[in-house]
Amino acid sequence: MRGRWGRHGLVAGLLTALAVIAGCTSPPPSAPERADEWRQGKVRTPATLDPYFPDLGNHGYQVEHYQLAVTYDPASKQLTGQVVAQVEALTRLESVRFDLVGLTVTSATVDGMAAGVDRGDDKLIVTPADPIAAGATFTVTVDYQGIPEPVSHPGLGDNGFQPTSEGAFAIGEPRSASTWFPVNEHPSDKATYTIELTVPEGLAAISNGVPAGREPAAPGWTRWRWEERHPMASYLVTAVIGDYRVTTREHADRPLVVAVHSDLPTRIDQQLLRSGQIADVLAEWFGPYPFDAYGGVVLADPRVGFALETQSRPVYSPAFFIAGQDGTGVIVHELAHQWFGNCVSITSWRDIWLNEGFATYAEWLFEEFDGGDTAQETFDLYWEGPGGADRFWTTPPGDPGAGRLFHSAVYVRGAMTLHALRVTVGDEAFLEILRSWVARYAYRNATTDDFVALAEQVAGRPLRELFDAWLYADQRPTYPGR
Ligand code: ARG
Ligand code: ZN
Repeated sequence: MRGRWGRHGLVAGLLTALAVIAGCTSPPPSAPERADEWRQGKVRTPATLDPYFPDLGNHGYQVEHYQLAVTYDPASKQLTGQVVAQVEALTRLESVRFDLVGLTVTSATVDGMAAGVDRGDDKLIVTPADPIAAGATFTVTVDYQGIPEPVSHPGLGDNGFQPTSEGAFAIGEPRSASTWFPVNEHPSDKATYTIELTVPEGLAAISNGVPAGREPAAPGWTRWRWEERHPMASYLVTAVIGDYRVTTREHADRPLVVAVHSDLPTRIDQQLLRSGQIADVLAEWFGPYPFDAYGGVVLADPRVGFALETQSRPVYSPAFFIAGQDGTGVIVHELAHQWFGNCVSITSWRDIWLNEGFATYAEWLFEEFDGGDTAQETFDLYWEGPGGADRFWTTPPGDPGAGRLFHSAVYVRGAMTLHALRVTVGDEAFLEILRSWVARYAYRNATTDDFVALAEQVAGRPLRELFDAWLYADQRPTYPGR
């Protein structure tokens, strides 16, 4: 039997062994500095932003803030939107290219002046009257409308904005946002957001971050406002519209908003409201909770069989809360992503294990903390377990390939990589590595090489071989710690 919130064994040891780590945060370069590096040829510009998904994302600028106002009518499935993006030019720009799937752009301006609009290959190209200087900050406003449709990636399923019987939801990884607004669809360009969703009266409209008010709009319509004040990758933006029970509490001086579809039993609301306490446990291991709000959304839609760590408010399939399950494992996983993936984000999709391996290892730590199997027992189970099955040992989690972004090797062998690191460097250094990872790269992006370098620095020993064997080899590494 698993204890409730009891502190047991190894994990309790980890907690008490831990000293406070001073993060050595250095600010990211400013836009003029980046533009300068670009001009001097210090920044190599590859043909595409991401080798795994060459269609996603755009070079030459960084969006600082998206102000998004969307009206959605479930009856006609029509979406009408306006996005106002505050952008920094990293280089001289003749035009600004965004990702946008389908939908019709009705007007675009740059700094308030009419701009040209071209479309093609899931892109929107906005061309101002005059080119934008490197280092300049400018505002792009786009009005658009249409019936959004999700996109399918081979092996990754439907991504993006999808209608339901009475509403809609937008979730997807690696692509989602560009199915319902113009965006730089890549985690290397994080931005803050204000999101306004106008929906028929009586429906809820949930998004990321802090609730910033709800008011009547046109007769029969309600406008819900949300604010995400910390940088967010585009795949972490969500909108869930429909018939939901919305419960708002306060936890650790922040709003905790949970929304459960009204077709589902009310016990799920209680199960989801534990998100605050679960985040507190994770904060003891990984450092302070990085965002201004907590929460979660449980869909009733049977088409969705997964959960997604949408920033500050993950979205869950109902499948995690049926047949006697209370959702603890998946809540731990999605909340761990708030540190690993959301606060510290990947620079390229190849490094997806930095998200999934870490969130999975958090599940193992929590299981042990909660009186279940120890992380070592879980590791041993997988060491003996899936073996050659389903390409587990032949898929390198550090480079799984675009079609195997969410392969079990990424999750489980990724978590095993962290366990191998832990038994190699010891519990104290291991937790110090995780905490300084978050402290050093908070609200920014990092790479696997950054993680290896940090681990070597904290542990004071070379670790490249260990990571190479666990992340990049197509066979089972040697058993760690022997
Ligand atoms: N990042 C999500 C997680 O926490 C995975 C999303 C998987 N997507 C999918 N279409 N199956 O596990
Ligand atoms: Zn995950």
